[in-house]
Amino acid sequence: MRIDKFISELGIASRKEASRAARSGGVTVNGAAVSDLSRHINPECDVVSYLGRVLEYNKFVYVMLNKPAGYVSATDDKNLPYVTELLPEEYRRRELFPVGRLDRDTVGLMILTNDGETAHRALSPKHHVKKLYRFEAAEPLAEGAEEKFLSGVTLADGYECKSAVLKLDEGRRSGTVELTEGKYHQIKRMIASTGNRVTFLERIAFAGITLDESLKRGEWRELTEDEARQLCSKE
Ligand code: URA
Repeated sequence: MRIDKFISELGIASRKEASRAARSGGVTVNGAAVSDLSRHINPECDVVSYLGRVLEYNKFVYVMLNKPAGYVSATDDKNLPYVTELLPEEYRRRELFPVGRLDRDTVGLMILTNDGETAHRALSPKHHVKKLYRFEAAEPLAEGAEEKFLSGVTLADGYECKSAVLKLDEGRRSGTVELTEGKYHQIKRMIASTGNRVTFLERIAFAGITLDESLKRGEWRELTEDEARQLCSKE
């Protein structure tokens, strides 16, 4: 791979910035300064450094974001704030996109990556990936709602949901729902089917990965190796 492509794909600098840095000795390969960034390297074994920083080759990036309300699950929007705006430039250059969508007013766990194949697999209905949501509702949920969710709620448009696990807190006005599918506004429509209304919705787990409680709304971090492995697992 060309050195300038390697640097720009990692999101460290644009090709132009990299060639400017190279002219002043800021790019080295295996310890030796290089001025010609069209030279090819093997990212698996050559050690490239940029302005004193050794660059680690990671083809794919996996990020966990604690999505705040008000942001759309998109990589661009003309009028509304969008989730990738919350990432620093270095990550945006790597063209991360959200794995699935949360409504604009839904908060919590959102995973972003540039690994299209893994994202596709995680979202495919075939793989029954688990998603866990915490919600609050306008009224206490009706008696028997837990059983109804377990046997499959029928939505207003006739869609029959797969079995979902509803756990209610004391007072029955809040709780969690675990789903293995991801239809448009699914939790809101499931709660609506019981004659109620969601007033707050947060995703707290996706594909076995739990929202890191130390992340405030709008904050992010890369997935740990274990979490990334879990996301990429083909089971
Ligand atoms: N269900 C919803 O209703 N909204 C979301 O954002 C996610 C799941």
